[in-house]
Amino acid sequence: MKEISKIKEAKLWIKPHLKKGLRIGFVPTMGALHEGHLRLIRQSKQENDITVCSIFVNPVQFNNPDDLAKYPRNIVQDARMLKSNGCDMLFSPEVEEMYPDGKTPNNDIEFGMLDKVMEGKFRPGHFKGVVIVVRKLFDILSPSNAYFGKKDYQQLMVITRMKEILGLPVNIIGCETVREDDGLAMSSRNLRLTIGERQVARRIFEVLCKVREKGSKTPVWELKEWANKKIQEDSRFRVEYFEIAERETLMPIENWGQKTQAVALTAVYLGDVRLIDNVELFS
Ligand code: PAJ
Repeated sequence: MKEISKIKEAKLWIKPHLKKGLRIGFVPTMGALHEGHLRLIRQSKQENDITVCSIFVNPVQFNNPDDLAKYPRNIVQDARMLKSNGCDMLFSPEVEEMYPDGKTPNNDIEFGMLDKVMEGKFRPGHFKGVVIVVRKLFDILSPSNAYFGKKDYQQLMVITRMKEILGLPVNIIGCETVREDDGLAMSSRNLRLTIGERQVARRIFEVLCKVREKGSKTPVWELKEWANKKIQEDSRFRVEYFEIAERETLMPIENWGQKTQAVALTAVYLGDVRLIDNVELFS
């Protein structure tokens, strides 16, 4: 596996592959890799000639400096995992390489409500930062296919919309959420849970599944109220939002009407660790 940290060198490495018409699969990450990330790498391996992964803890998408400082970094182990999963190139630039002199590229894309609800509301500026970095990475690496997890459902929708608005020649591919045996969505943040918290963390997915089961038999408001209450029955949990929304626009659904495509999404603090998860309804 080739390891590159400079933009110029990455472009030079990509160029001959593009010339040959090879398909480049790309998995952007912030490192601290786990099985969820590796599944994306494997899917890219299956569907492309070349697979590239980026590791870049993108400062401009963190609205909380403490969260940025605490973000786990383990590039040596990450590189080892990528290598053994057949990744062809790892692009891991320094902050100064991506944003020289602390300057970030302009991002004037208008997403309407899509980047303002849920994660957008509680993490102001987050998606602006995600869009800036993903756009720049696409520009450097010219992927045919780019892989994103449904774990970060709103992010996947924002990137899909960005691709449409800018008319980028890349397919955005959404991949199923990879879970621990008890159903907890895999996340590097899970390591920050105490043993006791880890044992009860399954509750989030359990409630989401129950909501899927109850589905349109229950009014939306009642379902949301029930879910909030059920999660918070254990006082270690604090629900930041629990929303039921249209899948692509993420506009909140108030009553079922003729809705056939919906998703339930939540952000929950367990102790001081913020966890997000979602399930698609009626699929
Ligand atoms: P990161 O949190 O490292 O996630 C990288 C990719 O892995 C994202 O597409 C995310 O949705 C996916 N992923 C994480 N956990 C997953 C799981 N349990 N199952 C399936 N996929 C999972 O998301 C980011 O980084 C950043 O915002 C990034 C897109 C790299 C831009 O900086």
